[in-house]
Amino acid sequence: MILLANTEAEPGFSHAVDSLLAGGAALDALVTGIGHVEAAPSVRSVGYGGWPNMVGDMECDGAVMDGTTLSVGAVGAVPRTLHVAALAREVMRRLPHVMLTGEGARRFANEIGFTEDDVLHPDSKRVWREKLDDLLDDEARAAFPDVPLIPLSNAITDPERVRDTTVFLGIDAGGNAAVATSTSGWAWKYPGRLGDSPIPGAGFYADSRYGAAACTHTGEMTMRCATSHAVVQGLKFGLSLDAAVERAAEDLLALKGGFIGEVVIHALDKNNKHRVVTLRGGKPVSYWFWEPGMAAPERRQSEQL
Ligand code: GLY
Repeated sequence: MILLANTEAEPGFSHAVDSLLAGGAALDALVTGIGHVEAAPSVRSVGYGGWPNMVGDMECDGAVMDGTTLSVGAVGAVPRTLHVAALAREVMRRLPHVMLTGEGARRFANEIGFTEDDVLHPDSKRVWREKLDDLLDDEARAAFPDVPLIPLSNAITDPERVRDTTVFLGIDAGGNAAVATSTSGWAWKYPGRLGDSPIPGAGFYADSRYGAAACTHTGEMTMRCATSHAVVQGLKFGLSLDAAVERAAEDLLALKGGFIGEVVIHALDKNNKHRVVTLRGGKPVSYWFWEPGMAAPERRQSEQL
C-alpha cells in the first residue's frame, strides 16, 4: 500500500489513508480524500476556493483512473459542481463514455442526484473583479462580458495561478493502483479551456502492472508530452522509477514555443517506490506521503530536475 498526493491535498489526505486502512479500494480512498479538498475554502486552487474563468464562472475538471481495469472517468469545464472527481467516477461507472464536458456533464450530475453547488468563493470573485477592473476601460467594463476575450487572455494571465490542481495516487492492499484529480484550472482561463487534469495520459495515468503518475501545474505542457503516460510506459519498458520519471521529464524540458511554465510530476511504481520532481525552474514543492508503518502522513519536499 502507498498514498501520494500534492501539497493541496492536506484537508483530505488523512481521510484517504483511513479509507485504505479500513480495507477500501484505492480508487474509493482517493475520491474520499479529494472530496474534502474540493470542499475546503482554504485550498485556493480546487473546488470551492478555486479561481473562476475569465468571465467569472467556475468551470471545474476532474478525473479518476482504475489501474487494474484501465477504466477512466473524466469531466471537464463543469459548471455549478463541487465534487467533480466523484462525478468522474460516476461517468466511469454508469456510461459507455470516458469524458463529459460543460452543460452535458452538469445534466448527468442532475440525473444522478448531485446537488447544484455555488462553487465561487466570494474572495475569488473579488480578486477576479479587481483584476478585470484594472484591465478594462469604461466602455469595455459596461459591455463585459460581450467584449473580445483573446486580448484579455494574455493580459490577465497570472503565472502564480496557472498551477491549480490536486492529485491523489495510491495502491491498495490488493495491489490495485489508481489516480484521481480535481481542479478549477488555470485562473482567468478562456471559457471552455481544459487543462491536463481530465486528460488521461497527460494529467494522470495508472496501470496496476507498473505504477501510476499524475502532474500538477502547467497542463498546456503535459498535454503536449503525454507526461503521465510516458512515466508509466517507461516502467512498462523496464526502466527504474527514477529513469522513467527522468525520461518523461526530458520531453517537457525540450519543449519549445507555446506556453512554458512549471510542472510537477508525482509518480509511484508497483513496488511502492515513489518520486516527486519539479521542472522548468519550479521551486521544490511539498507533497504528502504515507505507507504502512508510518504513524501519520508526512509532508515531504520534491526534488528539482
Ligand atoms: N494542471 C492543471 C491545469 O493545467 O489545469
